[in-house]
Amino acid sequence: MPLKDCQIIDLPKITDVRGNLTFVEGNNHVPFDIKRVYYLYDVPGGSDRGEHAHKELHQFVICMSGSFDLVLDDGFEAKRFHLNRSYYGVYVCPMMWRYLDNFSSGSVCMVMASDTYKESDYIRDRGEFLQAVGAA
Ligand code: TYD
Repeated sequence: MPLKDCQIIDLPKITDVRGNLTFVEGNNHVPFDIKRVYYLYDVPGGSDRGEHAHKELHQFVICMSGSFDLVLDDGFEAKRFHLNRSYYGVYVCPMMWRYLDNFSSGSVCMVMASDTYKESDYIRDRGEFLQAVGAA
């Protein structure tokens, strides 16, 4: 899938004097069934996460607190998203190289994924990724 398919998705926001509420439904707000949720937290300043692609996994990345950048790269072009609100996220399609950086202190990155953790779905070698997408 091309980079243009990886976009910001705005989520419902129920505003209330008691506080705001946002929700995410699989196959409704995000274009896949949600099978797993994981989150990154206590990320030391200056750390980078990611630096890999997934063969088949679809993901949706939300900044739950603080801020960070998500960089997506299809092998030909790259796009940087600055995430700092929890009422939107970025859809990451399969075969997209990604990394996260510029984590603010106390930031929390939540990721919803279309499948359970499978190391065999990762492409961790940049050269192998570029070969696979025909950009080598
Ligand atoms: P990894 O996906 O490489 O981290 P990131 O992309 O955020 O930098 O995962 C780091 C480690 O955690 C790796 O040993 C695999 C393990 N892991 C799981 O066991 N289950 C999971 O759902 C995830 C995302 C990672």
